[in-house]
Amino acid sequence: MTQTVQQTQRLDGTVDLPADKSIAHRTALLAALADGASEIRNYPASADPQSTLACLRQLGIEIREKHGILHVEGKGLHGWLPPDAPLDCGNSGTAMRLLAGLLAGQPFDSVLTGDASLSSRPMGRIADPLREMGAVINLEDGHAPIRITGGQALHGIEYALPVPSAQVKSCVLLAGLFAEGETTVIETLPSRDHTERMLGLDVFQMGDARHLTVQQGRSIEARTWTVPRDFSAAAFFLVAGSIVPEGEVFLPGVGLNPSRSALLDVLRAMGADITIEFEREEGGEPLADLTVRPAPLHGVTVDGLLIPNLIDEIPVLAVAAACAEGRTEIRDAAELRVKETDRIAAMEQNLRALGAEVEAFEDGLAITGGTALKGTTVDAFDDHRIAMAMGVAGLVAEGTTTITGADCATVSFPHFWEALEALATS
Ligand code: S3P
Repeated sequence: MTQTVQQTQRLDGTVDLPADKSIAHRTALLAALADGASEIRNYPASADPQSTLACLRQLGIEIREKHGILHVEGKGLHGWLPPDAPLDCGNSGTAMRLLAGLLAGQPFDSVLTGDASLSSRPMGRIADPLREMGAVINLEDGHAPIRITGGQALHGIEYALPVPSAQVKSCVLLAGLFAEGETTVIETLPSRDHTERMLGLDVFQMGDARHLTVQQGRSIEARTWTVPRDFSAAAFFLVAGSIVPEGEVFLPGVGLNPSRSALLDVLRAMGADITIEFEREEGGEPLADLTVRPAPLHGVTVDGLLIPNLIDEIPVLAVAAACAEGRTEIRDAAELRVKETDRIAAMEQNLRALGAEVEAFEDGLAITGGTALKGTTVDAFDDHRIAMAMGVAGLVAEGTTTITGADCATVSFPHFWEALEALATS
């Protein structure tokens, strides 16, 4: 699908944001591992979390939807059934990496596959620690399909994460449920903490490092989960509402987990006018209502510890930077090269096409804002966050911006284009 976006003077209205993709995957997996029936409220229709549900169904988990609430019949840690075909994770790295951790400890064989983008992403980063635990994992040149030979006796390990990745951390911790003794993951660059929160793990801060430990057989209770709205989806509107000259955008019920929300602080440091109201907690996750109004932005430096905390928001942050006065430099973000696409190369190419001044580094981007953007044709590179970031850029680029392959937004935000259009015309 090709999507066009017109330059817009005003954005007004409320956005019905999708539920958080990262949290949703985890609620489904934990509900399937619990003993008995769990309910998940606000489970997203986005393609990625739906891939997790499809895989779980293939593993013998009964999942029904009634009045928008998901009912999951958990089978405990040892009740999953052998799948009769490869488990297709679609575009979802979280589905693939977390499921690999859980399947490594099962008594049966399994195969995890994905689309072309997922099949090009590095899987050695999970195979290495799983093999250290005793798992038998076969990759194709470091990539999916992931073939797991079941029936191995796993043992706990202490694993210092070589990359700041919540997917790797979660994979090892979930495998730890099936590994003799204790499994400890040590992270020095803190990544999103949903898995440890949801499993209720003890976290010890030792100097710069967080130590997370899980015991074999830790039981998981059946319960009701409510998935908050996705901060990573809100990010597109936080930037859009800041750079479009007039209006006010309201984003109710947005998840504000501190390990996810650094973009909020960065945008505020750039001069953004964002109000946070009615801060509350639901299901162990903080959330609040956000209002964003236009404001002149200026460049900042974003690096180090901040990066894992806003890794998914960097494409749209780059758009904000292109509209900000002065230079913004984003460094220490080489992980962007192995996302759904190489997001450094994609944003470099797309922002340049719109006329922005961009420099790319192996680990980031420098953008000098202040040049008026001009609409042209750009590509989504089969990456939902590139598609949506370019949609936001299109709101301020002169004339029309055409985004090819824009339908990949469905991976995390199926009604994104409608939501954007509704704000522009309301
Ligand atoms: C995610 C972790 C991050 C993030 C991805 C979702 C998760 O990936 O980019 O969108 O749900 O754990 P990495 O773990 O590869 O950094």
